[in-house]
Amino acid sequence: MASTPHTSQTHTPPSRYNFMILSMTTLIGIVSIGYLGMIVAYLVPRKGEGARAQSLGTVGADGITGPDGTSYSFQNGVAGPFIYDATGRGDAQGIYAVRKSAASKGVDLILGQTCTHLGCPVGWTPASNSFNCPCHGSIYNKEGQNIGGPAPAPLYKYNFTSKGDQVTVQGRQS
Ligand code: FES
Repeated sequence: MASTPHTSQTHTPPSRYNFMILSMTTLIGIVSIGYLGMIVAYLVPRKGEGARAQSLGTVGADGITGPDGTSYSFQNGVAGPFIYDATGRGDAQGIYAVRKSAASKGVDLILGQTCTHLGCPVGWTPASNSFNCPCHGSIYNKEGQNIGGPAPAPLYKYNFTSKGDQVTVQGRQS
């Protein structure tokens, strides 16, 4: 009796299937790399950004005259808010210039206007000598320390230089 030859069958997926898988994988890879590139470009500051120098203006006995001629008087030692464009792309940030004592002639401190709770703009209240947040009631003292309400941290400080009566802001401290 003749034996039946054993034939082994190998399963080979159709070439169209392989092509589709390869195409999809390549497409997903290209899109992922594109998104990754955009995320990195967004997160990593370009050279010079984040430390842009901007003139605050000319400091006088009673106030500061901005580069556009706007006057900001010191009220109980605080002038502002000024608008600082940290990146040069119109990223406006409110900042205040602070004199710590009545004897100060220039600017001792520059504080951000952004509340460290959820980001509302704080306002200076000369009568209570404090920055007050209108959203949830956080209170900061004249030097930006959080002294009341839900704010978890002090107001941000900004780097600045003084040359004669000129004050230049240059980026937020980390
Ligand atoms: S955002 Fe200022 S207290 Fe909540």
